[in-house]
Amino acid sequence: MELAAVAAIAERLGRVAPVGVRVNPNINAATHPYISTGLHGHKFGVPRERAVAMLRQAAAHRWLQPVGIAAHIGSQITDLDPFAEAVQFLVTLADEMGREGIRLDYIDAGGGLGIDYQDSVPAAADWVRTVGPLVAAAGYGLVVEPGRSIVGRAGALLTRVVYTKAQGDKQFIIADAGMSDLIRPTLYQAHHPIAPVLERPGAPVVVDLVGPICESSDFLARERALPPLEPGDLLAVLHAGAYGYAMSSNYNGHLRPAEVLVEGDTFRVIRRRQTYDDLLAGTWPGVGGPGCSQQDLVRAAK
Ligand SMILES: Cc1ncc(COP(=O)(O)O)c(C=O)c1O
Repeated sequence: MELAAVAAIAERLGRVAPVGVRVNPNINAATHPYISTGLHGHKFGVPRERAVAMLRQAAAHRWLQPVGIAAHIGSQITDLDPFAEAVQFLVTLADEMGREGIRLDYIDAGGGLGIDYQDSVPAAADWVRTVGPLVAAAGYGLVVEPGRSIVGRAGALLTRVVYTKAQGDKQFIIADAGMSDLIRPTLYQAHHPIAPVLERPGAPVVVDLVGPICESSDFLARERALPPLEPGDLLAVLHAGAYGYAMSSNYNGHLRPAEVLVEGDTFRVIRRRQTYDDLLAGTWPGVGGPGCSQQDLVRAAK
C-alpha cells in the first residue's frame, strides 16, 4: 500500500521516485522487546519474499526506481553480531536482485548502536568496521542511521529532590521530575546514570528515585545506589538525549520543564518552561455547553 502511495505521488508530480524497501530479516537483536524491530512478530519492514516482489514491482513501474534495501533491527544494541548478520542478509538479497537485472545502489544498515548506560558498548568505528567491508566488497554504497548513539549523551534531565521517605523496606527519593519528563525507565526499563550535581559525603544508599505522577510506574531509577540526598538537592539524569522532551507529556497536568543548551562554558534557554496558559492554549471553553451545535464541535475538532 505504501509503495502504491509513493507511486501515486510520483505520478502526480511527474517525477520518478527512487525507492528503498525496508526488509524485516527476522533477526533477534537481543535488546528490550519494545525497542527490538527486526523479528517477524514486529510491525516493521516486510519479509524477504514480499521485499523481492516489491522491488520487482518498483522496477517495472514507470514512476518508481528501486535504489536500495534497508533493515533496522532495533535500538540499544550492544553486540555487533546481529548487525553483521542483518547486513549479510541484505547483501545476499541485493546480489540476488542484481542477478535478475535489478541493480541496487545502497544497503542501509539502519541504526541501533547502544549507549553505555551501564554496559560497555562497541565504538561507532567498530560498528562501521563490522558492516562496512561486507557492503563495500559487494560494491554497494553504505547508509547508516545512528541516532541515539550520537545524541543520547548530549542531553541530561535536571530534577530537584522534594522529599525523602522510608516505606516498607524501601527508601524513596521523591523528585520534581518523573515519567512525564523522561518516560524511558517506565516504558522499557531503561537505565539512565544519575548523579547529584553537588555530591554530599557519605556512604551510598540504595533508593527508588520516583516522580510526582500518580502511577507506581512513575520512577526514574529503581534499587539504585546513590550518594546521600536531601530535599533541595539537584540531580542530573544523564543520557536523556532528545527522548526526554520528545516523549514528554502533560500527564497529571505536569508542566514541561525549560530546555537549556550548554555550549562550552555558556548556556541559553532554548525553550522556556511551560505555563498553565500554555496547557490551556487551543482549548475552546465555549464549545460543548448548552446550545453547542454540531458545527461548533466539528470546527473545534479541526
Ligand atoms: C528506521 C530507523 N533507523 C534508525 C533509527 C535510529 O535508531 P537508534 O537511535 O537506536 O540508532 C530508528 C529508530 O527508531 C529507526 O526506526
